[in-house]
Amino acid sequence: MENLSIVETADGSKTIFNAEVGEHYHSNHGALQESLHVFVNAGLKYYLENNPSDEVNICEVGFGTGLNFLLSANHCTAEKIMLNYTGIEAFPLKQEINAQTGYDQYISTDVWASYQQKYIDCLTNPQQISTYSSLKIEPVRLLHFDTNQKFDLIYYDAFAFRYQPEMWSDESIKHILKFLKVGGVFVTYAITGNLKRSLQSLGCTIQKIPGAGKKREMLRAVKNSE
Ligand SMILES: C[S@@+](CC[C@H](N)C(=O)[O-])C[C@H]1O[C@@H](n2cnc3c(N)ncnc32)[C@H](O)[C@@H]1O
Repeated sequence: MENLSIVETADGSKTIFNAEVGEHYHSNHGALQESLHVFVNAGLKYYLENNPSDEVNICEVGFGTGLNFLLSANHCTAEKIMLNYTGIEAFPLKQEINAQTGYDQYISTDVWASYQQKYIDCLTNPQQISTYSSLKIEPVRLLHFDTNQKFDLIYYDAFAFRYQPEMWSDESIKHILKFLKVGGVFVTYAITGNLKRSLQSLGCTIQKIPGAGKKREMLRAVKNSE
């Protein structure tokens, strides 16, 4: 963990810099802005607009600090929608560093307090974080993740291709797509020709939409068939 430091991004929200990988956990242009734009607005809100429901199941690849979970839980609490969230994380953060992100500013006090209190237990069993959210963190590498569950949404928040190309391989994308329901939505901050082709070959329709901050585009995919 000596490789990890907390740094500020352009919108004032914090992220983690991993010196070993040489990459940040979020965009330098704004961690909060990116998380809200890519995952909450383009992912969760889009899904719920098209599939109104009182319950939603999300799986995130690269759980990290949990910012995407916290903002999603906040939205679901406001809308009284039950959020069942699974985070896949090969290198879970220690509690000490997870407590120092300052993300309490962006969500309700109760959700933050419960998340801090139950974070370590989430690594072994699902925990009820609030009336409208439960969280399980699977401390495994993506390719070792397995479940009988199918998800409504996949948040794909791996390190960028140039730092971790294997996370963007056909094998990795195929593996996670197995757990997405037909009609489900996959979102990520990046867009490449290979990723588009890979998702199309797995029965998805691709949508190229404006990216967060200075990123021109991001990718959203809807799964049409198995
Ligand atoms: C871009 S960061 C994700 C940031 C995170 N979503 C957040 O809000 O803090 C990428 C994450 O993927 C994790 N990771 C790296 N290799 C992985 C693998 N093979 N399987 C699952 N997670 C992995 C890293 O430890 C890191 O937490």
